[in-house]
Amino acid sequence: MASASGDQATRLYHPNPELQKNAHVKSIEDYKKLYDQSINEPEVFWSKIAEQFYFKTPPTEGKFLEYNFNVNDGPVFVKWFQGATTNVCYNVLDRHVENGLGDRIAFYWEGNDPDDSSKVTYGQLLKGVCKFANVLKQHGVKKGDRVAIYMPMIPELVIAMLACARIGAMHSIVFGGFSSDSLSGRMLDAKSSILITADGVYRGTKLVNLKQISDEAVTLCKKQDFTVEKVFVVRHLGSAEASSNGDRSSPVAKRPCYSLTTDFHEGRDVWWHDVMEGASDKCEPVWLDAEDPLFMLYTSGSTGTPKGVVHSQMGYLLYAATTFKYSFDHHKDDIYWCTADIGWITGHTYVCYGPMANGATSVMFEGAPLYPDESRCWQIVDKYNVSILYTAPTLIRTLMKYGEAPVKKYSRKSLRVLATVGEPINPEAWLFYYNVIGDARCSISDTFWQTETGGHTLTPLPGATPMKPGSATFPFFGIAPAVVNEKGEELEGVCEGYLVFKQPWPGVMRTVYGDHERYESTYFRQFPGYYKTGDGCKRDEDGYYWITGRIDDMFNVSGHLLSTAEIESSLIEHSKIAEAAAVAYPHPTKGEACYAFVTLIEGAEFNDKLILELKKQVRSKIGPFAAPEVIHNAPGLPKTRSGKIMRRVLRKIAVNDHDLGDVSTMADSTVVDILFENRPKELRA
Ligand code: WT7
Repeated sequence: MASASGDQATRLYHPNPELQKNAHVKSIEDYKKLYDQSINEPEVFWSKIAEQFYFKTPPTEGKFLEYNFNVNDGPVFVKWFQGATTNVCYNVLDRHVENGLGDRIAFYWEGNDPDDSSKVTYGQLLKGVCKFANVLKQHGVKKGDRVAIYMPMIPELVIAMLACARIGAMHSIVFGGFSSDSLSGRMLDAKSSILITADGVYRGTKLVNLKQISDEAVTLCKKQDFTVEKVFVVRHLGSAEASSNGDRSSPVAKRPCYSLTTDFHEGRDVWWHDVMEGASDKCEPVWLDAEDPLFMLYTSGSTGTPKGVVHSQMGYLLYAATTFKYSFDHHKDDIYWCTADIGWITGHTYVCYGPMANGATSVMFEGAPLYPDESRCWQIVDKYNVSILYTAPTLIRTLMKYGEAPVKKYSRKSLRVLATVGEPINPEAWLFYYNVIGDARCSISDTFWQTETGGHTLTPLPGATPMKPGSATFPFFGIAPAVVNEKGEELEGVCEGYLVFKQPWPGVMRTVYGDHERYESTYFRQFPGYYKTGDGCKRDEDGYYWITGRIDDMFNVSGHLLSTAEIESSLIEHSKIAEAAAVAYPHPTKGEACYAFVTLIEGAEFNDKLILELKKQVRSKIGPFAAPEVIHNAPGLPKTRSGKIMRRVLRKIAVNDHDLGDVSTMADSTVVDILFENRPKELRA
């Protein structure tokens, strides 16, 4: 593969004039005008956007925004549109149906197998959501309850989450790739006594038995004296008698007969289709305060257990809707496809809430991008005439390995906007996306944001922003970025430092579930008065922002943050491990991978069997995607005199870089030589 030549990687890429002509924002000057208004007159800016949404009662005059971002001035809080009551589900469904869009397709559902597909309209979804909301109510679920969801990418997942939103229950979705330990940990933290799952799902050729994993999670909860009352199970893989008529309001099954290998617990487990059968398809939404919580979603923290990030009703909705419309330049005839799983924030905001708030038509894909072959994505793009594609750098790099042929096999002529998220996109992958996938015709939106921010915070606008490969360019409306140094002083002009945001935007998280102190200490303590992203960043001579990566003990595997602490604690649970230290390690397709150093207990032997056991341990404690790539035998770890592990040194050892920098604080430097000698065989090429 040709490497990104200097010229190509550093030049400016202007939006295609064809695209610019019809764009919502047509020039960088227009962007600046709108941006300035969003910062200087936020009330004018956001109130105008809010007009398209339905409020049961309007916001109180003079209560547009109240907040405190400074921990030294008292508790941190953010409140938008106080006094207003609304319902997010109503705004993403009923509002469209009442406007005559009931027959518009919300999702083209594309199954794992290319011949398995269906579609669902806004009208059908509304009925399904009302029915399931009634089911939840019948089972005692009420406003404020936390409902755990562990499902594949199927329309029932959207129905389940919107049914929660309709009655004011918080959904807590756990990505279907997490293990039973992770699922139970999240259910315990949120005290979710209701779980919604499915029998199972195929990803590529691999069967994931979601029901069995759910059962294990319920048992683990029980061991902690927490009872899961109800488990709703969608029959997705189906049984011989179920048949598909292409209508997702009925149980679907086209696949070979698959029956649950786990027990069905009478009284606790209920089939989705059984309870849906008699339920009414009318359900009055529960009117909620603008600041009531909408959902929680766990994300890794650099210390301790995952944090339940809490998002609000109105602020989140406004921000999801607005970022979706502008960052992707969405128009009503677009066909939009986001490849992310709903189990991550990208799926919450940009598969469900953002597109649906705009009445968009999307593709929902349950399968794997390389199954049945490497051209699957482009086959889907051509099948549905996808015009906006949103994916992750890790997928682009994976596809690059197969060269241009699988891409060129399909026309992709419908594509107009290409977007990415998850990690900094390397210029090489950016150029492949732009030149090969987009035929040098499409705009690229490199969207920088976080689970915590609810929606895009730095991003180009497709019709307005000249692009630089690898830069997330400029702030979205309402975002006031600053680059600060160690001392929290704002840097001017060309600089490098910590990326922070100076004022709240509607989509910012409101708290960590059950632990407001952790919210303050993680995001607001180090730089009082600012929201801290935790990312390093550069600003260049044209004012473009370039994210340089995490500044804490987090690493980014395939676009998802994991903490070194989480991996370490699961390794240490193995009986032969005395101590473990995990660091990030560059990986050709995943971006970063986990490299783990382990110190064994006396007398234990380091061998292939142990390596396998350790990888398996992390898979089962956290999930398959978290398994360390490399396990390194470490008779000793480099530590400071006060006993703190020097991860900076371990990162150097992982990449075989002998230039360790200042090691004067290291207690015993001989351990480093041993670690270099001990580098795993497979890395010694
Ligand atoms: C972290 C947030 C937001 C959805 C996906 C990840 C990194 C994300 C970019 C980008 C550079 C990026 C940051 C951020 N990140 N997008 N376009 N350029 N870095 O959500 O798991 O909350 O991770 O992902 O490090 O802090 P998340």
